Amino acid sequence: MAKILAIGIATLDIINTVKSYPDEDSEVRVSSQRQSRGGNATNTLSVLSQLGHQSHWAGILIEEPDTQLILNDLSFYQIDTSACKRLTTGKMPTSYITVSQKTGSRSILHHRDCPEYSFDDFKAIDLSQFDWVHFEGRNVDDTRLMLQHIKTHHPDLYCSLEIEKPRAGIEPLFELPSILMFSQHYANSHGFDTPDSLLKSLPADITATCTWGEAGAWAITADGTISHNQAFSQDKVIDTLGAGDTFNAGLIHSLINHSDLKQALSYACLLAAHKCSQHGFANLLCNFNDDV
Ligand code: FRU
Repeated sequence: MAKILAIGIATLDIINTVKSYPDEDSEVRVSSQRQSRGGNATNTLSVLSQLGHQSHWAGILIEEPDTQLILNDLSFYQIDTSACKRLTTGKMPTSYITVSQKTGSRSILHHRDCPEYSFDDFKAIDLSQFDWVHFEGRNVDDTRLMLQHIKTHHPDLYCSLEIEKPRAGIEPLFELPSILMFSQHYANSHGFDTPDSLLKSLPADITATCTWGEAGAWAITADGTISHNQAFSQDKVIDTLGAGDTFNAGLIHSLINHSDLKQALSYACLLAAHKCSQHGFANLLCNFNDDV
């Protein structure tokens, strides 16, 4: 069991499930609706908690009516919020999500009126208690300061950086963490049409992964070796929301347990595929066979 800190967001997710993704300017009735806590960093932590780790979240909590649902869920997964910054104005980030039953795809409209967790907030955390620190690739200037702070004051502390969305000025951060976790969305938006072309374009000595939907995931080790793992197929794709966050949790869990990158890639693919076979994250490890 490890003690893991993640810096990023918690959201309110309002999830509508529809038979198939609607046409523009149409009106459709949803098959079901649920509300849950979301956000990449906290999704990853909810999986890491189920894998037996002590999970701590550092992010923004705003006093407003929707926060209680978020807090209840964090407490359900025993995610510690003592490093969070608490504010009295603003709104928790809110995502309006459409899940298509036909494909399992998830389309997200995201509303944000919430400041970012700052380097000043981060500096107050006693990092010596943690085995791993995971960052969402957002809030670029402050995240750079946080990564540099770790490198200077805790050089042996493992840290990971998720690069899911293209963000101005994020590339100089690539050489700071122990491992980078790229998405296909980031790769495509920078003109890479294969994951290995993105990974090979990185500066030398970088360890990184890149997920590619149904094609699986790729990794590069610091010596430039590329490996690939097929996606594990599911009889039925039910819900892909948070599959990438689950992949990241699988990777962190496996690397903490001293697997090599290839084994970790395989485990992360298996766990992410398993997540797609169910709604949400609850009881993720029930019926999970991790024989890879
Ligand atoms: C899934 C997710 C949702 C959230 C959105 C934020 O990866 O974290 O839970 O609403 O992405 O970008």
